[in-house]
Amino acid sequence: MKNKKIEEINKMLEQDIKDIQDRNKLNDLKVKYLGKKGLITELNSEMKTIPNEEKKEYGQKVNELRNKLNNFYEKRKEEIETTLLNEKLANEEIDISLPATKINIGSPNILEKLIEEIEEVFMSMGYDVVDGPEVEEDKYNFEMLNIPKGHPARDAQDTFYIEGEEILLRSQTSPVQVRTMLSKKGVEPVRVICPGKTYRRDDDDATHSHQFMQIEGLLVDKNISLSDLKGTIDVIVKHLFGENIETRFRPSYYQFTEPSVEVDISCFNCKGKGCPICKHTGWITVAGAGIVHPNVLKMSGYDPKEWSGFAFGFGAERLAMLKYDIEDCRVFYNTDLRESKVFDRWEDK
Ligand code: DAH
Repeated sequence: MKNKKIEEINKMLEQDIKDIQDRNKLNDLKVKYLGKKGLITELNSEMKTIPNEEKKEYGQKVNELRNKLNNFYEKRKEEIETTLLNEKLANEEIDISLPATKINIGSPNILEKLIEEIEEVFMSMGYDVVDGPEVEEDKYNFEMLNIPKGHPARDAQDTFYIEGEEILLRSQTSPVQVRTMLSKKGVEPVRVICPGKTYRRDDDDATHSHQFMQIEGLLVDKNISLSDLKGTIDVIVKHLFGENIETRFRPSYYQFTEPSVEVDISCFNCKGKGCPICKHTGWITVAGAGIVHPNVLKMSGYDPKEWSGFAFGFGAERLAMLKYDIEDCRVFYNTDLRESKVFDRWEDK
């Protein structure tokens, strides 16, 4: 009687097994027979009603049935998975003969590229490239550069203040000179350049931007003179504008250098004859520079009797505008891909 029931369930199972082609149906099958109220589960729980002498045989048969289902389940599961995988692979097959979708990629910003080029030249001369905060303390941006509170030079750099008078957006990269001297004390010579963003309250136009980039340089060692500065500036200027470009120093005034100079290069366009680029003077100003002021050395803990140094600051946009013949500095900050693509043309100049 009981064996008959097993037989019936076995037949049903064989019937059910026939057309199972997907995972859901396969799971349903398992539930139907082995779930909490499944048919085989039920057979199992009926064990207690079986007379003792038949228990063994009954148990064996139920087990066989369960194994049959489990074996089928595992085998079919694998088959279904293989089929699915093959289908997926077939669908994903790539036809490499199809034309590709054109992706509009950007191109490196010309200003960034120029800065990297300058960094490389200085690195080859043993300089480190360093960084400093754009949100700066008055102490570093002014005070330790020999520009005390109330000094008129502060007004010339229309500064963005962030918190009272102490925290500001740096108006120059020169504060990095101070930070570097403080951090490199004991591992001289100090040789760094720091390209970075600076901020001033300027109205934006073709040659002004409230945010612009400077490339600061500082060297502190022993017996440094203006001719060391000139030699260094010559290297970078010739690299950027050509071997026959000359440099000259004009006396100038900065609080943190003494003497201070303005760096001019001979006009690469008219070769000195006079043209609109050099405003008919034959010379173009590209940087401010000088010998580090003894007060600045002292404030950062260097004895001016023992140490000396030079510093310089280039305007990065100005260099790029000259080198790539760009008339409006706003193109550097334009995010329009069509505009920045135009830079690609200039690259080979
Ligand atoms: N910080 C100056 C400016 O923003 C530029 C400058 C001049 C930097 C002379 C220097 C320097 O390091 O020696 O106008």
